[in-house]
Amino acid sequence: MTDFWHWFIAAGTIIFVIWCVWLVQWSGKQGPSNVKDEELVGHKWDGDLEEWNNPAPRWWLYLYFITIIFAVGYMVAYPGLGSFGGTLGWSQYGQYDAEMEAAAARYEPIYERFAAMSFDELKANDDAHQLGKSLYASYCTTCHGSDARGAVGYPSLTDNDWLYGNAEQQIITSISQGRNGIMPALGPALGGDAGVDNMVSYVRSLSGLEEASADAMSAQPLYVALCSACHAVDGKGNQMLGGPNLTDDIWLYGGSTEDVRATIVNGRNAMMPSHQNLLGDKRLRILAAYVGSLSERQ
Ligand code: HEC
Ligand code: HEC
Repeated sequence: MTDFWHWFIAAGTIIFVIWCVWLVQWSGKQGPSNVKDEELVGHKWDGDLEEWNNPAPRWWLYLYFITIIFAVGYMVAYPGLGSFGGTLGWSQYGQYDAEMEAAAARYEPIYERFAAMSFDELKANDDAHQLGKSLYASYCTTCHGSDARGAVGYPSLTDNDWLYGNAEQQIITSISQGRNGIMPALGPALGGDAGVDNMVSYVRSLSGLEEASADAMSAQPLYVALCSACHAVDGKGNQMLGGPNLTDDIWLYGGSTEDVRATIVNGRNAMMPSHQNLLGDKRLRILAAYVGSLSERQ
């Protein structure tokens, strides 16, 4: 706050309080000028309800004075007059810092204890599990669901199928940096409808949804050329790139002919946001252990 605004606000506040004192006193004495005290003012309601020219009751005026005295006392003790900090030295930032310190003092020993555990110990620890569960509930349910079973385009975290892997560092990286799995639109590269149909059949045959017919197998060379970099030659996926395993019965976008066709022709793009700044290292590791344990605890 610049000096000008400090004085402007402080002077304005003081003048206003003085004006309030004057106003209360003045209105306590004042009645309509042409009527004496203890006389009827001449207003009449409902036939017989009339107004006397009496001053306001004393106790009522005192209430005003009490609020004014309270206001003055408050402005001496607390910040309120421009940039004057108040004699008690209280501030919002100070209170916030004090509360953060108290919370840190309370949780730090718990976090320290967890930080000293191995990832496997952390996954098995019930206190850590509870803490991870509440972190999960605050940050992750919108996309992965309250039961962590995911939805179309949002992977389930409870199965044992990992796009990016379930080793400590892999889960931590997924959560801290976020992930962005890009499946390119490959319709044109497959040479028209017949080519797409054959590729759809080939992909579905990998998990046994369709027979490995001659048409399906005719797409295999193209699969190796176009798809194996991200989904591996055997179709079991590539955790470096988040390419899903195509040989199991777990589907991010669905395994029906239409779903697989839409994936291959239009491509897919899933976005897991970074949570590093929201969570910090210690909480992030506890949450990662919670997520890692979900598929093991079922
Ligand atoms: C805005 C939606 C969104 C939020 C919020 C979100 N995620 Fe995700 N998450 C995704 C998507 C989408 C993917 C898949 C990314 C991909 O395919 O590249 C994903 C992937 C992951 C993976 C990798 C899964 C695997 O199979 O390897 C983990 C682990 C994960 N999320 C955990 C979390 C945790 C823990 C939280 C809460 C801190 C969280 N996510 C919050 C959308 C979200
Ligand atoms: C550049 C790497 C890359 C290439 C090349 C690629 N994919 Fe993908 N594919 C991905 C990624 C990453 C995903 C997951 C997308 C997501 O998380 O949104 C995916 C998803 C899919 C899915 C959906 C799986 C599910 O569980 O729903 C299918 C099917 C698929 N790809 C088939 C193919 C086929 C067939 C080809 C070759 C014609 C191909 N992909 C080429 C990276 C690739």
